[in-house]
Amino acid sequence: MGQTNVAKPQQSGRHLTFNTIQAANSEIHQGHLVLINRENPIRQTISNSRLLPLSSIPSIHTLRDGMLLERTCLRQLANLLEACHGINEIIAVSGYRTKLEQEQIYASSLVDNGADYTARYVAWPDRSEHQTGLAIDVGKLNKNVDFIAPAFPDTDVYKSFKQLAASFGFIQRYKEGKEFITHISCEPWHFRYIGCPHAEIMERNEWCLEEYIDQLKNYPFEDDHLVYEDEHSSVQIYYVAADSGIVTTIPLVPCDRYLLSGNNRDGFIVTAYLDKGKQAHV
Ligand code: DAL
Ligand code: ZN
Repeated sequence: MGQTNVAKPQQSGRHLTFNTIQAANSEIHQGHLVLINRENPIRQTISNSRLLPLSSIPSIHTLRDGMLLERTCLRQLANLLEACHGINEIIAVSGYRTKLEQEQIYASSLVDNGADYTARYVAWPDRSEHQTGLAIDVGKLNKNVDFIAPAFPDTDVYKSFKQLAASFGFIQRYKEGKEFITHISCEPWHFRYIGCPHAEIMERNEWCLEEYIDQLKNYPFEDDHLVYEDEHSSVQIYYVAADSGIVTTIPLVPCDRYLLSGNNRDGFIVTAYLDKGKQAHV
């Protein structure tokens, strides 16, 4: 089980001892941590090269042919299904959706289910995480699977899937008790890939994604970083506000590898991994 902590960035006087990377400000709207909701719509369509068909992993059951997911999300979904022994019990119901598909789902749900149900369970077009390729609806593999609200029990392999999800970078995105923040009702079937150790940190603190993105602004590069430790690595997480203009210079702490994601609002989140037992290569 990992631990969270805080650490100061290492600087020596006026001579900063870190490298920098340049990111186009348009990249605020890309990455595993983008927040998509009513107030923060999709601003950039995921490139086709980052999407992979679920059929590339033939053991995964899918409700429809041609389903796609962002490539890391798909790889981790396959790993999670294997880890929870759910490959023959769980079906992938809905993955990546285009804006047009979300419009069609929204319109047909209005007709079939009415306005109240649709507002609770279907995001407005351009406000759906499914348009990022980072959201996957899963259901109990059955003859009849509901496309909008698939059954996903809290028992057996489904429970194991839920319990192991964070260690593979997934969160149950819409939980009971957070409806006043997410504006979506509890969806036990909708999992969002955000990566490790973000999912574990959120789970431990019972934060939904809106709350986590707000929290991360308390950890700017210049101040304490959010530090997560487990047996394999020490991870520093910090926020860098976007510079005015078209490019932001992002300071990088010494690390073995890092991930950069926009928050889809106003800046970037750096996740810097230092593998234990190794020197940092910077
Ligand atoms: N069911 C979720 C909220 C979506 O439509 O994206
Ligand atoms: Zn969903």
